[in-house]
Amino acid sequence: MRQRGDGEIPSNGAEGRAWANFGQLTDYLWPYRGRIAFAIVCLIVSKVATVLVPFSLKGIVDHFGSAARSELLVPLALVAAYGGLRMATSLFNELRDILFSRVRFKAMHKLSVDVLDHLHRQNLRFHLERNTGAITRDLERGTASLSELLNYAVFSIAPIVLELAMVIGILLFNYPPQYALVTLIAVGLYIAFTVRFMNWRAQYRVQMNKLDSEANGRAVDSLINYETVKYFNNERRESDAYNGLLTQWADAAQKSVFSMSILNLCQAMLVALGVTVMMGLAATDVAAENLTLGDLVMLNALLLQLFIPLNFLGVVYRAMRYSLINMDRIVELLQRKPEVVDAEGAVELEVSSGKIEFKNVDFYYGEERAILQGLSFKVEPGQKVAIVGPSGAGKSTLARLLLRFYDVQGGSICVDGQDISRVNQHSLRRAVAVVPQDAVLFNETLRYNLDYARPGASEAELLSALEAAELGAFIESLPEGLETIVGERGLKLSGGEKQRVAIARAVLKQAPIVVFDEATSSLDSRAERQITSAMQRLSRKATALVIAHRLSTIEDADVILVLEKGRLVEQGTHAKLLSARGLYHQLWSLQHQQSQNSET
Ligand SMILES: Nc1ncnc2c1ncn2[C@@H]1O[C@H](COP(=O)(O)OP(=O)(O)O)[C@@H](O)[C@H]1O
Ligand SMILES: [Mg+2]
Repeated sequence: MRQRGDGEIPSNGAEGRAWANFGQLTDYLWPYRGRIAFAIVCLIVSKVATVLVPFSLKGIVDHFGSAARSELLVPLALVAAYGGLRMATSLFNELRDILFSRVRFKAMHKLSVDVLDHLHRQNLRFHLERNTGAITRDLERGTASLSELLNYAVFSIAPIVLELAMVIGILLFNYPPQYALVTLIAVGLYIAFTVRFMNWRAQYRVQMNKLDSEANGRAVDSLINYETVKYFNNERRESDAYNGLLTQWADAAQKSVFSMSILNLCQAMLVALGVTVMMGLAATDVAAENLTLGDLVMLNALLLQLFIPLNFLGVVYRAMRYSLINMDRIVELLQRKPEVVDAEGAVELEVSSGKIEFKNVDFYYGEERAILQGLSFKVEPGQKVAIVGPSGAGKSTLARLLLRFYDVQGGSICVDGQDISRVNQHSLRRAVAVVPQDAVLFNETLRYNLDYARPGASEAELLSALEAAELGAFIESLPEGLETIVGERGLKLSGGEKQRVAIARAVLKQAPIVVFDEATSSLDSRAERQITSAMQRLSRKATALVIAHRLSTIEDADVILVLEKGRLVEQGTHAKLLSARGLYHQLWSLQHQQSQNSET
């Protein structure tokens, strides 16, 4: 498995960044502001009702403590108010819940789609360096976190703040200042302690997430490489590595649970202390007849009521921090700028004839090693130009550059006189059909995979593409024909069959430029001859760039370019290159010998 790069492990910087992340994501809420406003009104109504409950209680107690205790109408009215208020609390709570859930789910859904789009905008380099198993896990956790965060914000934090403000207001208004003071100090200590402690123990969660993603990535990677694992009898090694990561995870999880228990204990002690001091104050004041019995009951009810959600604050803060940490990766992903972007005011590529020109192209994948150096060549409209050279010479790279999967470091590439870095990527890719070296298919039906090149292609178009790629007989031999599922990455097809599907797809695309990247490398000589004629038919209608593995397939090319270590070392027709007795001649003789050996 690939090591995960820097910045993937949320460091201490993540602490501060976490809250900023939340701000980032508020964009997802704006479309629902009306609904959110309603939810907030419900929240306020329900909290006002909550705070009024102890008032009705005080009224009832004070009434029975007064001279008119035998009169029943007032206390009954107060009891009814008490019941009504309690019901209102729940009713508006539920209303808020219903109103808000839609916001939550929609925001989560939009975030998921945005992240997938964003991942598709990243260039090939990003995807080659990433671990798909780990990234999908980040995505899953990140979007779930958004939903959770909204939940906590609206259902926990806001109500607590609102209730606290009302309680403090009531205390300041009706009682000596020390009551509000005690409440504020207790709540303040509680929150300060909780936040500090949670920040400290967040490290365990970060560790757990990292290990969890790594373990998951490792498991997925080992399954993707199922066959390789078997070739080398390495099941044990895969399992040990997985086990090692999970053991580390369990250690971190254990520490996390332990620290949580300590936190809970300390919180409970702070609450008990606060309530005790408050009741002590109240009892003294009742004894001195400054307060009534009803006040004592009300203060007790108010405080206990306040601490119920506060007790919850620990859990909520904890969960919010985790969610923010989980979201860190998603936000980091969303902030990552794609490497290859459309230039400002990029126009559509206009293909008139399909001429390709590489001018002095330099290209590196990494800083250290030049892959292409000062490469220049032209492909005239309708020509078939072959590129040959040893493996690793940079042939496939050249095709990737033509599709602008990467930007060149020097020189330029033009199609019909337009620099491809100045046109939009969509129009460029629309103009080029590729038969790749390793064709990979979706785990869907053959029809789906073929259709992919041209959604809504007619049956006739499909059939003629199959015919062109010599796939007809193969498909007839399948019991389920075009509806056969091809397996993950197309693994249920042989290499040759996959290549033919890829050729059929390229035919369907009907692009003015076609690139074959060793499109016949997985075929035997007979199948190759058939495919070569299919390729010839296809390339007659288009400009063709044929990266060749077997030189016999490109004898008829208009120009053959011989590439070695990223430099153009020879070019010319087959006959001319043979007589030049250079690298091409060497390669040719080698292959010629081999094929003669195998035929005799
Ligand atoms: N994504 C990549 N990152 C770094 N190096 C790469 C990458 N892809 C290919 N290379 C290197 O670039 C060189 C040219 O590769 P390629 O164009 O695939 O060669 P070929 O001529 O066999 O098609 C090779 O040495 C290869 O190792
Ligand atoms: Mg290649």
